Amino acid sequence: MIDILIIGSGAAGLSLALEVADHAKVTILSKNTLDCCNTKYAQGGISAVLGADDSLDSHVADTIDAGAGLCNKEIVEFTVSQGPERIAWLIEQGMPFTQVSDNKGNVNYHLTREGGHSHRRVIHAADATGKAIISTLTAKVKAHPNIQVLEYHIIIDLITGTKIGLSTSRCLGAYVLNLTTNKIVALQASFVVLATGGAGEAYLYTSNPDVATGDGIAMAWRAGCRVANMEFIQFHPTCLYHPKAKSFLISEAVRGEGGKLLLPDTSHFMQDFDPRGELAPRDIVARAIDHEMKRLGCEHVLLDISHKSEKFIIEHFPNIYHRCMALGYDMANQPIPVVPAAHYTCGGVMTDRCGRTDVEGLYAIGEVASTGLHGANRMASNSLLECLVFAHTASVDILSKLKSVAPPPKLPSWDESRVTDSDEEVVVSHNWDELRRFMWDYVGIVRTSKRLQRAKSRVDLLQNEIYEYYSNFRVSNDLIELRNLTLVADLIIRSAQQRHESRGLHYTLDYPNKKPVAQNTILTP
Ligand code: FAD
Ligand code: SIN
Repeated sequence: MIDILIIGSGAAGLSLALEVADHAKVTILSKNTLDCCNTKYAQGGISAVLGADDSLDSHVADTIDAGAGLCNKEIVEFTVSQGPERIAWLIEQGMPFTQVSDNKGNVNYHLTREGGHSHRRVIHAADATGKAIISTLTAKVKAHPNIQVLEYHIIIDLITGTKIGLSTSRCLGAYVLNLTTNKIVALQASFVVLATGGAGEAYLYTSNPDVATGDGIAMAWRAGCRVANMEFIQFHPTCLYHPKAKSFLISEAVRGEGGKLLLPDTSHFMQDFDPRGELAPRDIVARAIDHEMKRLGCEHVLLDISHKSEKFIIEHFPNIYHRCMALGYDMANQPIPVVPAAHYTCGGVMTDRCGRTDVEGLYAIGEVASTGLHGANRMASNSLLECLVFAHTASVDILSKLKSVAPPPKLPSWDESRVTDSDEEVVVSHNWDELRRFMWDYVGIVRTSKRLQRAKSRVDLLQNEIYEYYSNFRVSNDLIELRNLTLVADLIIRSAQQRHESRGLHYTLDYPNKKPVAQNTILTP
């Protein structure tokens, strides 16, 4: 019997598993290896008020300012207030944050700066913070006797009482496809937690790894949960431009440590868009780059930190330096080409302060969730903070209820009686490419009502085709992901079509101004 089924092994899922494992039987699963997740690629770090000159009020004010009027102030205050304690917890687990000694020989954690932050408050492990989080937490998870780890297991759908004709609407478990044996089983659990991350793969160019297909958002929607603010897809301003390489992020911390954005003729331009220049919030910087690229017809802009010494660059950004070198760019001696790419899903499954969704027994934490923290634009490094804080609050809530929940009933087996093996895999790969291209072209950094309508017509066609395919053929990893990604794309487009204003990450030429009153976009299944 599983007490807590955790779907997803990023910062959110692993943290929750460790917080509950001394008191519950936990199963954590990942559709790939445990370390294949957005978290592993996080570079800049985690924001928290740790510096002597910083304050909780300042972190709150910066987050709300970046969120363009749409953050839930109470959630922001709560999340920010929990930051120092959650960082202490991570350090207790063995997290090797970068340290520096001052001229008196005192050793402190190094804090860097990123866009939107008025103070240095981003604690990090060089420029590979996510990798350090994953290896620290994975080692602990694998060693815990109460945690069962299932890699290469993909959840197809959640099972609720409603779906199987019971009088309860509670979430009772999930159908899972074992990708090694190709067998599907129903897993029963007292509590189910979605920690499935975002949906960057909906776009042709993204900083996200292949697993970021919005599965949790789609599954929660099909189970009856509301989703909020899906139009706010964050485009990171600076991914390395290389015609042959997959998008690689150049951390905002490079700008935080003095990196400047330049046009191809090496002139500066960010001051023309915002007095904070390179350290304006991401939506502003990404839009400025997009504007300049379209104005000049160029394929990228430049990011220059070559005025810093080679030693400084290698010390602060070893991962980025070596990756650039491998692709032929020496960032210590030349500006490097950069472009924006889809990076973060600000909206998601609506949850409360404990990660509870609309369906009893189902929680959502991390990037899959919409807690109200990010509003219309997430401030840099607030995401990992959110993962840690809501993993903690969800763990406390679940443990307080565990003893009083009746064990779930036996669940019906997956029905494969009406499906056969697919005879046209090309449908999946073709639709996958088409979806990601029209989302990039029509639902990107700058939108119009016409472009959104074009995208909506196409996504409707794809959904019909995929529904038919899904009903007739045996499921595979690619089909499950495509079905989810197409649904999530539809939710993004519908949310964007409902917002008749430009706010934060949603910018449309047809409604260029912000409305006086900020409202969430809430979609109900
Ligand atoms: P993830 O880490 O994405 O984990 C999702 C997990 O769910 C994976 O294990 C996946 O396999 C699993 N999964 C998904 N669907 C299924 C399914 N159907 N069945 C089974 N398993 C499933 N944020 C910061 O705060 N600071 C940073 O410096 C920072 N840098 C970033 C750099 C990059 C390149 C990227 C892409 C993001 C960055 N972010 C950063 C954002 C941050 O990393 C993510 O928002 C955060 O890591 C999300 O964590 P998560 O636990 O919610 O999900
Ligand atoms: C970065 O290092 O620029 C990414 C930070 C983030 O997405 O929060």
